[in-house]
Amino acid sequence: MEFSIKSGSPEKLRSACVVAGVFEPRRLTLPAELLDKAARGYISDIIGRGDMEGKTGRTLLLHNVPGTLCGRVLLVGLGKEKEFHEKEFLGAIRVAVKALDETGAMDASLFLTELPVGKRSLAWRVRQIAMIALEATYRFDTFKSKKDEVRRPLRKLTLAVDRRDDRGCAEQGLAQGLAIAEGMATARNLGNLPPNICHPAHVAEHAQTMAREFNLEFEVLERADMEKLGMQSLLAVAAGSHQPPKLIVLSYRGGATGAKPVVLIGKGVTFDTGGISLKPAAEMDEMKYDMCGAAGVLGTLQAVARLKLPINLTVIVPATENMPGGGATRPGDIVTSMSGQTIEILNTDAEGRLILCDALTYAERFEPDTVIDVATLTGACVVALGGVASGLFANRDALARELLAAGDEAHDRAWHMPLWDDYQELLKSPFADMGNIGGRWAGAVTAACFLSRFTKKFKWAHLDIAGTAWKSGADKGATGRPVALLTHYLLQRAGQLN
Ligand code: BES
Ligand code: MN
Ligand code: ZN
Repeated sequence: MEFSIKSGSPEKLRSACVVAGVFEPRRLTLPAELLDKAARGYISDIIGRGDMEGKTGRTLLLHNVPGTLCGRVLLVGLGKEKEFHEKEFLGAIRVAVKALDETGAMDASLFLTELPVGKRSLAWRVRQIAMIALEATYRFDTFKSKKDEVRRPLRKLTLAVDRRDDRGCAEQGLAQGLAIAEGMATARNLGNLPPNICHPAHVAEHAQTMAREFNLEFEVLERADMEKLGMQSLLAVAAGSHQPPKLIVLSYRGGATGAKPVVLIGKGVTFDTGGISLKPAAEMDEMKYDMCGAAGVLGTLQAVARLKLPINLTVIVPATENMPGGGATRPGDIVTSMSGQTIEILNTDAEGRLILCDALTYAERFEPDTVIDVATLTGACVVALGGVASGLFANRDALARELLAAGDEAHDRAWHMPLWDDYQELLKSPFADMGNIGGRWAGAVTAACFLSRFTKKFKWAHLDIAGTAWKSGADKGATGRPVALLTHYLLQRAGQLN
């Protein structure tokens, strides 16, 4: 979809469809009022008859409204003005875009951009509109032999701003929103791919394609390289699979030479059967999404490179399958991680932490300023937070605060969970330095505690996205989270968030 920013009056715009809001009960917003004036009360007349109360989620499409230059007017219900906040704004945009996609209009002008949303800036509103518009029109039909063609899809969306002077700010917000949306689409595509296609080598190939397009440094460590480095923990997860593991490294250098990079690490388990600690059959297909951490950090890197942010960013993806088999790791096996710490693998289904710990140790060589790992790590996190917030853990409170703020700004929220030492005891093993599970309770916390033991050399945060990376049920699919959170965090660091 193509986007542009314009200032001007709705009644004078030549467009297939003009979109304007109506508050409940029957209160026209300023653009709707301008259209109504030009049409000599035509719109207020229709509304007076009770066809559009302004309720949230409702739309009304009018054709050939007199006195205007547009083919259609789409009225969007906004609910009560006093109750119109962030959630309502985002909902109204989503409803408008979905409704537009179903009209025959291939271009439209949106007069919702200037709706006040608390203290949110114009740049924020434009960023969100761009993100939502692309998110709402996303389709994944690669594997359908007959595509569901939209007859006349929405091709061009113009965002109307009040003042000419506002256009610069809006343009920047638009570029950022589009880059984030594109990164999210990449993450969703990778996540939605079936596990017979999206195996570790596929993820590596994808990364290589990105490296070529954006001129990134690219490296893949193969099994033999990992053996040399002593990554026994990562290799223990890969042991049961016929697909060779890959440790993928991509570096973007937009910042000063010598400036310490941010390192993002994404869990890339392309299919998690549980290994010998086999998972039950129900919904096991969803474990193809166990590489959504990897997809998320790759999507974020894409957004950052597209925006040419003045920062240095390295992405590390440990990619492997977790399969049972004759060569697979047994519960009770003890391995030595790259850090030298030994691990008793009590449950082969707690494999995410086993690949991440070696990736965290590997990150040390980049002398990172900050390391953030992203992982569909625990079912316990889904129990705790559901699909609304990602679980956030950090070994520095300031970093946690920055990430929480970024999540809030991006409307891709996280919730701060504890990493207190009291939980560390649950990882005790009689035979090794630690076990890889902490028992029944506080599963998301003990998993994070396990990771924390490999992060002594840098500022570190961990995002458990097990509940937020994909949706189950009727609208099953990857969500593209937490690309927006991470990109907002990096935009903030680069001083480019307005
Ligand atoms: N990939 C799963 C976590 C998961 C489960 C994400 C369900 C989304 C939905 C992870 O590898 C896993 O299996 N974790 C175990 C850990 C347990 C054995 C300590 C879990 O959460 O059950
Ligand atoms: Mn598992
Ligand atoms: Zn897993």
